[in-house]
Amino acid sequence: MTSDRRAEALARAQAAYDGVRAQGLKLNMQRGQPSDADFDLSNGLMGALGEADVTMDGLDLRNYPGGVAGLPSARRLFAAYLDVKPENVVVWNNASLELQAFVLTFALLHGTRHSAGPWVQQRPKMIVTTPGYDRHFLLLQTLGFELLTVDMQPDGPDVDAVQRLAQSDPSVKGVLFVPTYSNPGGETISAAKAARLAGVQAAAPDFTILADDAYRAHHLEGADETVNFVALARDAGFPDRAFVFASTSKITFAGAGLGFVASSEDNIKWLSKYLNAQSIGPNKVEQARHVKFLESYPGGIDGLMRDHAALIAPKFRAVDEVLRAELGTDGTYATWTNPRGGYFSSLDTTHPVAARVVRLAEDAGVSLTPAGATYPGGQDPHDRNIRLAPTRPPLSEVHTAMQAVAACIRLATEEYLAAQANPATAPAGV
Ligand SMILES: Cc1ncc(COP(=O)(O)O)c(C=O)c1O
Repeated sequence: MTSDRRAEALARAQAAYDGVRAQGLKLNMQRGQPSDADFDLSNGLMGALGEADVTMDGLDLRNYPGGVAGLPSARRLFAAYLDVKPENVVVWNNASLELQAFVLTFALLHGTRHSAGPWVQQRPKMIVTTPGYDRHFLLLQTLGFELLTVDMQPDGPDVDAVQRLAQSDPSVKGVLFVPTYSNPGGETISAAKAARLAGVQAAAPDFTILADDAYRAHHLEGADETVNFVALARDAGFPDRAFVFASTSKITFAGAGLGFVASSEDNIKWLSKYLNAQSIGPNKVEQARHVKFLESYPGGIDGLMRDHAALIAPKFRAVDEVLRAELGTDGTYATWTNPRGGYFSSLDTTHPVAARVVRLAEDAGVSLTPAGATYPGGQDPHDRNIRLAPTRPPLSEVHTAMQAVAACIRLATEEYLAAQANPATAPAGV
């Protein structure tokens, strides 16, 4: 492009952005939260138990007895969800992240069943996928793990890279990632890759697969095949290698759901022993409410997830349609994933302008996930990745927000290209 044409393109992008800014928007596409319409599907939870419903499975829901592994009916329900047996599941309270923290903390303090000692004594390292989930990074770094990154590929983590890292260093204690409709790209691990990952030859005898299956049933169009790491690890000769986490946070209520974890029976005993030291048991009333509500929902959990998909899929289609219309599909400005499920899509700007895009969007009233959040320490080495979270706003707002985001991407790109052509004109921060 000649410098005149470049300057014209920049002026057009600036004018379009100024037009967006003048609208005085106040839109939030930052966190992966359900919409109120999604929550409303589960309002039946509120009245799922009556005053007389004080027992389930022969247990008084109000009293202590019942154990730490969860109410039998809840274990059955969520074991079926994770494709394992009830003996392989602990159903706990709200938030699967808490269960991830418990497993990691107990491993740090005591070691897992195959550890020579507490992980904390071994300067432990954990593999994560990038782009990935900021709360995984935060949790692991808060607990003192050194993070090693591998790419998330369209069919799951780069298993060759996992193999290389795991084989080379006994302080590499495992891998934490999202197997189905990953955060942020929406990738699902293939059956072949999952089997290879389950059988990785690791230097550490206690190498552990931590699969955060938060979006296992969160299909949008069709349904990706899910994998069962508990069975795959057993079949690979490492029966205690895998923990699979999930919750109802994106099924019923994000702030008042149930988290659960599946693993080998021996690992469930290992975990129960430590849970038992800190709690007499999880909230049985909440578990019973979920069992009653989910079992009575038309079509059960699958039926509820279909109703969520009807609300959420149009929002993802809107993201793709607006980006295609505004930015084209030739990669001049950006490329993005078009997930078949989950809660996010992942956008890569073609040039290193993600932080600038997020700042421009903020100034125009559109709040996006901070640039860099999809990498450990909030540092995207290429400054290109932006997580898009369209589930919370109403559909019309998703349209408006994405048009604004596209205008920001065009402006940031034109600024960057103009600065490359003539560094003296670079705006601050480019
Ligand atoms: C991959 C992943 N895991 C876990 C969570 C949070 O789950 P929970 O509410 O069960 O702790 C989220 C929420 O965005 C997520 O994206």
